[in-house]
Amino acid sequence: EQLFLNGDMSRGVLACVTCHGEGGNSTIPMNPNLAAMPHEYIAKQLRDFVPQGDKRAVRTGADGAPSIMSTIAPTLTPQDIQNVALYLSQQKMDWDKAGTATHEATMERGQTIWRAGIADRKVPACAACHSPNGAGLPAEFPRLAGQHPEYLLDQLKLFRSGDRANDIMHDIADRMNDKDLAAVADYAAGL
Ligand code: HEM
Ligand code: HEM
Repeated sequence: EQLFLNGDMSRGVLACVTCHGEGGNSTIPMNPNLAAMPHEYIAKQLRDFVPQGDKRAVRTGADGAPSIMSTIAPTLTPQDIQNVALYLSQQKMDWDKAGTATHEATMERGQTIWRAGIADRKVPACAACHSPNGAGLPAEFPRLAGQHPEYLLDQLKLFRSGDRANDIMHDIADRMNDKDLAAVADYAAGL
């Protein structure tokens, strides 16, 4: 909690709260909301942002550009990661600050993909891994409900391009067009 709220200037660790909001409830569209995420997922992401020697990090921005988190994650010790991940997993969602669905016209399409996937393109139902209500599942499946739709869409495109390297999500995003990605990102945010 201490680290999340204040960082540690003596070690060059920035305060997470500045960008991710109180208890991880960010109100900035491209800054993910971190409250009530599985702690194993948070810890994995913090490791994934760390560049590996000369090699790029598992998780970068578009075209391999370093994520802002790639300057922050390397300042954290394994103990910091464990502490901050547990702290965030125990925070409550503040639904007043959460993301919501706003595109009425694509809601039905988003719901269909969420619940049933797209059979003829072999896209599985998102609900199977992210839980029917979008709350996520231990250990590695993030909560998507209440996440900012802009952030979700951005991540789906990064999975598709491989800039965020993940085999499962790459295969899924790669079989979807921009319209379907936008529809399901919006729907998931509103769960
Ligand atoms: C992403 C944690 C500080 C901006 C993330 C993610 C985690 C995280 C776990 C991935 C979330 C997900 O996959 O859903 C932390 C912690 C911090 C911290 C523990 C403090 C030690 C900051 C600060 C900023 C920031 C200070 C702004 C200057 C962002 C942004 C993303 C992100 C923009 C999305 C990155 C991308 O998609 O490449 N953070 N964060 N974070 N964080 Fe932080
Ligand atoms: C991560 C969306 C289906 C497994 C994510 C993220 C998004 C997403 C946006 C990143 C969340 C964040 O950064 O906070 C979707 C959508 C799906 C879908 C829209 C349906 C079309 C699935 C399925 C599985 C799965 C079926 C399991 C077979 C995962 C895993 C991660 C993830 C393991 C974490 C990846 C990592 O560690 O970086 N998904 N997902 N997803 N999803 Fe999915």
